[in-house]
Amino acid sequence: MTDTSLNDYPADRVADRVYLTDAEAAEVDRLAAICNAHDRTDLKLALPRAPREVETPRAFLRRERGTLVGYASIDGLGGGEPELCGMVHPDHRLRGIGRALLAAVLDTCRAVGDTRALLIVEDVSTCGLAFAAAAGAQLASKEIHMELDAADDPTALAAIGSALAGPLTVRPAAPTPADVATLVHIMSRAFGDPEDHVRRRVEAEIRDPEGPFLIAEVGGRPVGSLKVYRMGPETGIYALGVLPADQGLGLGHQMLARAIAYVLAEGPTRFALEVDDDNEPAKALYARCGFVETTVYGYYALDM
Ligand SMILES: CC(C)(COP(=O)(O)OP(=O)(O)OC[C@H]1O[C@@H](n2cnc3c(N)ncnc32)[C@H](O)[C@@H]1OP(=O)(O)O)[C@@H](O)C(=O)NCCC(=O)NCCS
Repeated sequence: MTDTSLNDYPADRVADRVYLTDAEAAEVDRLAAICNAHDRTDLKLALPRAPREVETPRAFLRRERGTLVGYASIDGLGGGEPELCGMVHPDHRLRGIGRALLAAVLDTCRAVGDTRALLIVEDVSTCGLAFAAAAGAQLASKEIHMELDAADDPTALAAIGSALAGPLTVRPAAPTPADVATLVHIMSRAFGDPEDHVRRRVEAEIRDPEGPFLIAEVGGRPVGSLKVYRMGPETGIYALGVLPADQGLGLGHQMLARAIAYVLAEGPTRFALEVDDDNEPAKALYARCGFVETTVYGYYALDM
């Protein structure tokens, strides 16, 4: 169900950005620290830091007397189902700032042709859940957030090390038509998503300075892929997928281990990922590599 009044809210005091300057990113980090401490959350905000192919805003800022009091971000814009996350300083809530940010974000999604967006709200955020309900958003799915600090976890390192003995290798995808086609093939089949949506996402992110897509191969044949995101001290491992015909052979475990080893070689030791709350095999795979559950994200659908 769509709440059409959201479309009419004046968004004239929200500033939008294609990417954030260092100073803006630092302000967003400070506000996120305040909100996370207040609500015991780990907000899944995107902080776009560099220009991309598509020059559409993905970050939205709201100030009061020069101070940042609200922020919202769009991830996966133009991919069919962009993910939205936002926050308002606890002292400035229930004054319409959340709605104004959401209206600005939804206008941008509509402008690029997206017709449905997902609002990310953690199970622990009572205000976030009330906001999603007030916006008319409906729960679509839930994901478990899991983390690993390989530096602190010899058991995880041993599990990762043993999986490196397998025949699978990974390489960063190049921004070539051949690698884009390979990623679209793997990701659309592994996740059952429409090829045109996957292609738009791959094309938007293949030159992402925050990290590469990795293509996994056995004997030169592509069997799986994943996306690496460098997010401050943490590295996100996302969209890990193996072709359906190659599933159940231990390749997911090898691919995760290879990806972790790839990142460890660059220095960072902290990892984060998300997995559908009903995907027991994947949760078991991540647990085997030492990942532990830290929070639960709900995805609330808004039809526009
Ligand atoms: C969710 C959040 C961004 C809302 O910001 P806000 O500025 O307080 O929201 P608004 O004042 O614009 O409220 C919009 C609607 O949500 C409802 N709402 C928001 N918080 C609520 C609460 N704690 N209890 C009941 N209703 C609430 C408002 O009543 C309003 O409904 P209405 O327009 O039908 O009257 C803010 O509470 C927050 O930062 N929470 C922590 C971060 C979080 O969980 N983010 C996830 C959302 S992406």
